[in-house]
Amino acid sequence: MCGIIGCAGRDGETLDVLVHGLSKLEYRGYDSAGVALAGSDLDVCKTAGEIDELRAALEERSPSGSVGIGHTRWSTHGPPTDENAHPHLDCNREVAVVHNGIIENYQELRDELSTAGHEFRSDTDTEVVPHLIEDALADGADPEDAVRQAVARLEGSYAVCVVMSGVDRIFAARNDSPLVLGVDGEARSASESASGDEPRAAYYLASDVPAFRDHTDRVVYLADGEFAVVDADGYRVTTLDGEPVEKTEDTVDWDPEETGKSGYDHFMLKEIHEQPRALRQCFRGRVDELSGTVDLADLGDLSPRGVQLVACGTSYHAAVYAAQLFQQAGIPAQAFLASEYATSPPPIGDALVIGVTQSGETADTLSALREARRRGARTLAVTNTVGSTVARECDHAMYIRAGPEIGVAATKTFSSQIAALNLLSLAITSVGDSREVISGLRDLPGAVQEILDTSTAQEIAETYRDAESYFFIGRGLHYPVALEGALKMKEITYKHAEGFAAGELKHGPLALVTSDTPVFAVVTGDDEQATKTVGNVKEVEARDAPVVAVTDGASDVERYADHVLEVPDTHRRVAAVVANVQLQLVAYHTADMLGRSIDKPRNLAKSVTVE
Ligand code: G6P
Repeated sequence: MCGIIGCAGRDGETLDVLVHGLSKLEYRGYDSAGVALAGSDLDVCKTAGEIDELRAALEERSPSGSVGIGHTRWSTHGPPTDENAHPHLDCNREVAVVHNGIIENYQELRDELSTAGHEFRSDTDTEVVPHLIEDALADGADPEDAVRQAVARLEGSYAVCVVMSGVDRIFAARNDSPLVLGVDGEARSASESASGDEPRAAYYLASDVPAFRDHTDRVVYLADGEFAVVDADGYRVTTLDGEPVEKTEDTVDWDPEETGKSGYDHFMLKEIHEQPRALRQCFRGRVDELSGTVDLADLGDLSPRGVQLVACGTSYHAAVYAAQLFQQAGIPAQAFLASEYATSPPPIGDALVIGVTQSGETADTLSALREARRRGARTLAVTNTVGSTVARECDHAMYIRAGPEIGVAATKTFSSQIAALNLLSLAITSVGDSREVISGLRDLPGAVQEILDTSTAQEIAETYRDAESYFFIGRGLHYPVALEGALKMKEITYKHAEGFAAGELKHGPLALVTSDTPVFAVVTGDDEQATKTVGNVKEVEARDAPVVAVTDGASDVERYADHVLEVPDTHRRVAAVVANVQLQLVAYHTADMLGRSIDKPRNLAKSVTVE
């Protein structure tokens, strides 16, 4: 679970391009990093720690070469040490490999190679690859064939990039791990034409587009089982067996600016503030307010008799929310933690299985969807990432259009998932009040903006920053908000936090409630559900717990609360998003006051491509 970058055609700038690309990929893993540059020689620099550690190491010694590869690691095999950092080398230090994924048969390969006399320097699964290439080269294979032969021996998931001493090419292959090519063939300027200079062209490989988005918006998504050869003159894609593959180029439509912090202290805060725009993007062209209809024609006719949602982490909370929407519209629906789905798979019947995943690369979610497909289900991806594995593998894909999210803790993608799933539920079910829902959705970006402009979350964070434990409660559509509020809090503050269905509190967790456990209660509207949640608030208030009510003021919850985080009066379907924005801000400010590593919390990674 790592980030890969490769670059050809940027003579003299290769190292800078690689390090810049790695800094854009740090969200994929950040416990060690390294680069290898190849030309007449092979030059490698790698170190444990974040990219800044690598930068410091490079100040003492700057490798050079016409092509290069780089890697930022999130450990799966072996601790984060200099030796375990990528790139990994063969015995002769002539072949360098970076890898994302898990090679499942590595122990068998390692035993075989060790017996044949190869010496291993790391604990990683990756290191078998350069040694396999070394063997193939020794047997007389040319560089390209040697890489193909080595890759053919691998089982498991991989995106690999390889460079070699004396070869000004990058070889790359993928299976079950993301890898995308960037194409930057600049047009010749008038002066270059007059001077007869060749037009400049450069090519990139990366786990994700932000790594090279500053240089080009033209991309080619590699598919599983494909093999690419990239140099300053272009790229060639084949199957692993060498059959040519015709690839089409796509253009990414977001700005490189969108991957910078734009003046915010953290990506997370920037992304919280981007929510109104992200939501507008999600709705654009999909909603007809006059007729009260949603047009998702590109999805075709889904008409499911039942819905199963599979997801992890924050996306799972969006799935729990969406399952309620489908159920309320009369479609049997259930949300599953993707990692649990395969252990007791529910009957599929005629269900549509929806994978909710921001990155589109989460291994647990992909695996649950594959299981569903194997059992004959139709699948739909609800994702933020065009060209991601989930989008390519599912029968249908719906994009949430939130733009790139860099902070590990998901914020704007949660809101956009909820918005997209609202649209989806309207498109495939018939609900009586669709006009009202649509007008609620139309007002949502403004309501979120109002919270961003007026929130007092920072004061609440200041008041409770030293609490040992935080509880979050909500009922119905607010239950997933309680879960998400707690997840955000624990992810970035490293404090204990739990989210509960409000009615469950009295069945156990109430034993933990004391004057030292702030309870955040999400209560909007004044219906029966709200009244019951107010009852639960009274229960904690009676135990002296400080209560923070996240409310639109419609119920009398304020009477029992020590503090109030106000949310505008919105349609009940979208109240979850606005309430959640307040909780995002509480978690953010608490973590900031505690000096935590907000964008890259310890032990976590943005995109978890292992099961
Ligand atoms: C990781 C991240 C979580 C995220 C989850 C699912 O665990 O740390 O923040 O919610 O993956 O990610 P996905 O890309 O599938 O939405």
